[in-house]
Amino acid sequence: MARINTNFQREGSTGVIIRQGDARNLNFIKSESIDLICTHPPYSNIIKYSKNIEGDLSHYDIDDFIIEMQKVASESIRVLKKNKFCAILIGDTRRKKNIIPLGFNVMQVFVDAGFTLKEIIIKEQHNCKATGFWYNRSIEYNFLLIAHEYLFVFVKP
Ligand SMILES: C[S@@+](CC[C@H](N)C(=O)[O-])C[C@H]1O[C@@H](n2cnc3c(N)ncnc32)[C@H](O)[C@@H]1O
Repeated sequence: MARINTNFQREGSTGVIIRQGDARNLNFIKSESIDLICTHPPYSNIIKYSKNIEGDLSHYDIDDFIIEMQKVASESIRVLKKNKFCAILIGDTRRKKNIIPLGFNVMQVFVDAGFTLKEIIIKEQHNCKATGFWYNRSIEYNFLLIAHEYLFVFVKP
């Protein structure tokens, strides 16, 4: 199984450093050194982002995904400066025709890690790869399509 390449680093013309890594282990970032976190993880394993990259969060089903997101939340709060913001975009999913509130479960993980919830912003979802498929299924099996995702905004106290 391949690993996430954590050696990639580039400095742009503006002095911004781009570094590729695993959000569960940001050991190359000093504690309380970051001003803003914007993160958009996979929504558990709804869409797979790689075939065999170890640590790809899209390989984890819901319960294990939540455990891995606890590591992400703990690293996020470690690297963020106090009174600075962390925003996470995440949506819900279904299992066996029932809704799973993945968004709120991940929100709770960040609160449990020590963040204070500042805002919940609802974003309409557009152009989803599976919209046509799920549109037909929703009529056939009588359920509502998930048409939104959440932008949770946290502050580090
Ligand atoms: C929902 S997509 C976000 C895409 C992003 N908004 C963009 O425009 O590129 C989720 C991303 O998380 C990445 N990812 C998966 N596991 C990760 C991990 N352990 N650490 C950091 N990123 C990860 C995936 O490769 C994918 O690019």
